[in-house]
Amino acid sequence: MTVQWFPGHMAKALRQVDEKLKFVDIVLELRDCRIPYSSSNPKVDTIINKKPRLIILNKADMADPRKTQEWIAYYKAQNLEAIAIDAVTNFNMNQITIKSKEILKDVFLKEQQKGLKERPIKAMIIGIPNVGKSTLINSLAKRKAAQTGDKPGVTKNLQWINVRDEMMLLDTPGVLWPKFEDQKVGLRLAVTGAIKDNILNLDEIALYAVDFLKQNYPEGFKERYKLSDLPEDNTEILDMIGKNRGCLVSGGRINYDKVYDIILFEIRNDKLGRLTFELPQDITENN
Ligand code: G4P
Repeated sequence: MTVQWFPGHMAKALRQVDEKLKFVDIVLELRDCRIPYSSSNPKVDTIINKKPRLIILNKADMADPRKTQEWIAYYKAQNLEAIAIDAVTNFNMNQITIKSKEILKDVFLKEQQKGLKERPIKAMIIGIPNVGKSTLINSLAKRKAAQTGDKPGVTKNLQWINVRDEMMLLDTPGVLWPKFEDQKVGLRLAVTGAIKDNILNLDEIALYAVDFLKQNYPEGFKERYKLSDLPEDNTEILDMIGKNRGCLVSGGRINYDKVYDIILFEIRNDKLGRLTFELPQDITENN
């Protein structure tokens, strides 16, 4: 697998996040609830350093709810606060200010003791492309406020969005680079649609998906594609799906590219139900 990523771009993006950190009380770090580890940035701990942080697992509507709870418990065990939300339907969004207040209660208590006036929390959203940063900013602002696009080179004056008088949010999110260099991480990012299919080979992503569904969600997988069983050999599975879905070329051969497209499209559009692609026990700091 060849993946292109540019350390120069990454360093610049991180520098831009770093420059804005001094203006905020708390960092709202967005991750994809289906891949909380793979959608994080390996350098995030170093950049955020000692800033308070709330991990927001977005797209919870697409993730396996039981596994979401496992992730939240995992973070809690590391003294990290995490919540699961859906930025499209606003599910659990009120928890963002509630948890932020909890995390910052000592800071605000100190300010109060010094006689300082009560003020809104200043926050900044960061996350890798496609994790839902603009959607969340727009939902919190209740208007089209966020800049679209993830161009790390765009610099602007700071602009704030008021969130119910309790929070001020930087209107430009910090863009983090995903950690492509690990093959499993790259595949998980690709299968959830976080990175473009043309970065990786379609067959690799689809075969990863077949393996994953076979091992983790066998019943739903069989039902969706009308598979009587799940043979060891993935090519047999692809052949069965191809035949059932009419992905054939002349001579009755299977058009595998079409099969790959169907599987990936259906995973990304909830047709196989709510899926989570990694669990805390699957990952170590190095993969
Ligand atoms: P970004 O700023 O971090 O790059 O992400 P952005 O908000 O652009 O969101 C990327 C895609 O993820 C969008 O879909 C958006 O609708 C979707 N999304 C964001 N939050 C959620 C969520 O909580 N649940 C679900 N299911 N989807 C979410 P898109 O297909 O790229 O665009 P569109 O067709 O929705 O316009």
